[in-house]
Parts: sequence; C-alpha cells; structure tokens
Amino acid sequence: MHEATLRDRLNHLLTASDRSDVPPFMVMDVMAAAERIESAGGHVIHMEVGQPAARAPKTAIAAARVALEGGRIDYTSALGISSLRERIARHYRDAYGCTVDAGRIVVTTGSSGAFILAFLAMFEPGDRVAVTVPGYPPYRHILTALGCEPVLIETSSETRHALTGEALLAAHRKTPLKGVLVGSPANPTGTMMSREALTSLIAAAEGAGIRFISDEIYHGLDYAFPAATAAALSERALVINSFSKYFCMTGWRVGWMVVPEPLVRPIERLQQNLSISVPTLSQIAAEAAFEGRDEMEAIKHGYVENRRILIEGFPSAGLTRFLPADGAFYLYADVSDFTSDSFEFAKEMLEKAQVAATPGVDFDPFHGRNFIRFSYARSADDMREAVTRIARWLGTR
Ligand SMILES: Cc1ncc(COP(=O)(O)O)c(C=O)c1O
Repeated sequence: MHEATLRDRLNHLLTASDRSDVPPFMVMDVMAAAERIESAGGHVIHMEVGQPAARAPKTAIAAARVALEGGRIDYTSALGISSLRERIARHYRDAYGCTVDAGRIVVTTGSSGAFILAFLAMFEPGDRVAVTVPGYPPYRHILTALGCEPVLIETSSETRHALTGEALLAAHRKTPLKGVLVGSPANPTGTMMSREALTSLIAAAEGAGIRFISDEIYHGLDYAFPAATAAALSERALVINSFSKYFCMTGWRVGWMVVPEPLVRPIERLQQNLSISVPTLSQIAAEAAFEGRDEMEAIKHGYVENRRILIEGFPSAGLTRFLPADGAFYLYADVSDFTSDSFEFAKEMLEKAQVAATPGVDFDPFHGRNFIRFSYARSADDMREAVTRIARWLGTR
C-alpha cells in the first residue's frame, strides 16, 4: 500500500465521531481562570458553579459508613435497590400528595444518567425534541450525541421563561416534534412554571402526540411558590430528579426517574447493558438522605437568605435587571447595559472584582451574550462580599 494512503488510514483511526463533537462548558474556563487567581494568592467569590457548598446529609454519610464496614458492595438490580425505589415513591406521597407506584421508579446515575436512558427509550435517531432556551446545555448536547435533533424554542420573561403550549405547537407545526423537555425550577434562569402553566403545557404536548419529559432536579428549592410535579399530572410524562441539588449529593451521582409503566422494562434492559447498576454505596446513602430533611431545610433557609441579599443588593450595585429568582439557586442578570459580550464581562469581573460567575453564552446561543448567571449556593457572607465587590467594580468601570 502507498505510504501516504496507509498514513491517512491510520490517522483516520484516531478521529472522533461527528456525534462526539459537542461544545464544552464555558463555565470550566471561568473555573480554571479563578483557580489561577487563587493560586496567585487571590480570594475569589465562587458564584459560577451550580453545586451546593454543603455536604450530604449526616444520615447519608452515616449509612454509607455502615455499609462500607458491613461487607461487600455488590451490584444491585438495574432498576435500583427496591427499598430506595419504595422510599422515593413515598416521597411523592409526602411532598406532593400523589401516588406513584414504586415499580415505575428507576434509580439512575444522577439525572445526567437519566437523560441518556430516557432519550434512548423514548426516541429514535433523527427524532426532533424541543428544549427551551435559555436552558441547561447538556439537554441539547446529549440529544445531539444520541443522534436526535434538539429544537431550540426561545422563552421570554413575559411567561417567566416558561414554555407555553402555543409556542410548542407552533414549533410542532413547522416540523413535527417527538418530544419536549422542560425544567422547573430552571437552570440558568431560576424561574418556575406554575402548576397551571405545567398542566396546560402537558395537555398541549400530549394532545399533539409529543412525549413530555420534566426535569425536576431543583424541586425542594422553590421560594416563590410550591413546585408542581409532572408525575401528579400525567402517567405518560417521564419525570427526572436527582439527589444532587436539594440533598447536596452532586458527587455521589445518584438520581431517579418516574417512568411511564410501558417504558420500565425497556429502560431496565438499557441500564443492565449500559451500566449494570447505579453505584450501590450511593444508593444506600441516598435512601438515608430522606431522613436528613431537617438538615437540608436549614440549608435551603440559607439559600433564601442568599437570594434576599442578592435581590436587594444587586440593584444598588448596578445590576438592576434580572429574572424572577423563583427557585433553584440561580439569579440570571441582564448585563446588556454594560456589554454585548458576557464572556468578556465575566472575565473582567473575575479579574477586577474577583467574583466568578458564568456567562450566558453557555445556556443561550441567541441572547446569552447579554446575560450572566450567578449561583447563590454558598454562604451569606460570600453573597454580601460579592455585592460589595461588584458595586465597587461597576462604580469605577
Ligand atoms: C437543570 C439540570 N439538570 C440536570 C443536571 C445534572 O445533575 P446531576 O447529573 O448531578 O443529577 C443539572 C446540573 O447542574 C442541572 O442544572
């Protein structure tokens, strides 16, 4: 064989697939820049990362310790430890007053693992699935990696950034959709859908034959009004949740789904093949986390206070335009009075004020250049210091 042909062929063995060509998370660049400042002796207020500063509930850590001392950590059933699935079903009764059969609960590797299973079980390659913008980027990137086509629907402040049935059906008329995914409370906006808005969206979707997926990872962190679960509104909806946020267990990688009954067995088969089961130690800890609710409620109170500090402090610091911070731990500020490039703005804020936040470009390819996401999952002192630093920086800019 000709040497050049062989070289081309061998080089081709090293190229990544087209489907793996998904964009990186810009927030990682901000984190790396913050680290550089800190290693040079700076003190950065971290508002870029969407994770709680607190540890997992004590009950969870204690249960994991006992399990570790107690013997082998084996595989579990692919759907999850049955006592955990039952405990999650009970959570729906306690928190929402709705009955969910434990047989419809599937334990997953965080909600991230749930998206993969849900999309594989619900969609074929080429299917079009609507997601809202601004929105959590991996929704669209996972869909793309699985060969589906994410359809971006812009939301506006008039609807508190909730997707409406009309907007969904308008997109569906243009080119038919197979599914729609919404999150409430939402990342990055922190906005929530009312029960009525969620009910009418589900009715519109199902009436048009569009499968409905509800990302409820920020449930429990609702401040404006109680979050409604799609599990109470339709047995055909697929609900995704996680122990990462309310329960402060990001690194334990455990979440769950409530799935329509006919999808249980297909998802079980997928999970058996893709990962066998979810890490056992994390499942044991997660079950015990439900007994640590008092601790978690105290942490939630901290977020309430942080939210108040920012909502009251940002306007006097110069950041006057932000969306209603209904839930989660995000405040999404419109910085278009200062810049048309939120990435540069975030970089400058980090360098000059030593406050790290995430540029909206990660979440919104259309208008993200006008927005910055602030996470308020750390201490109240950090929030007060951030307001002071931003006020000083914007005042001299
Ligand atoms: C809206 C949303 N969904 C899902 C996830 C994924 O979380 P996990 O895989 O830790 O459950 C995140 C993480 O930040 C998120 O913000």
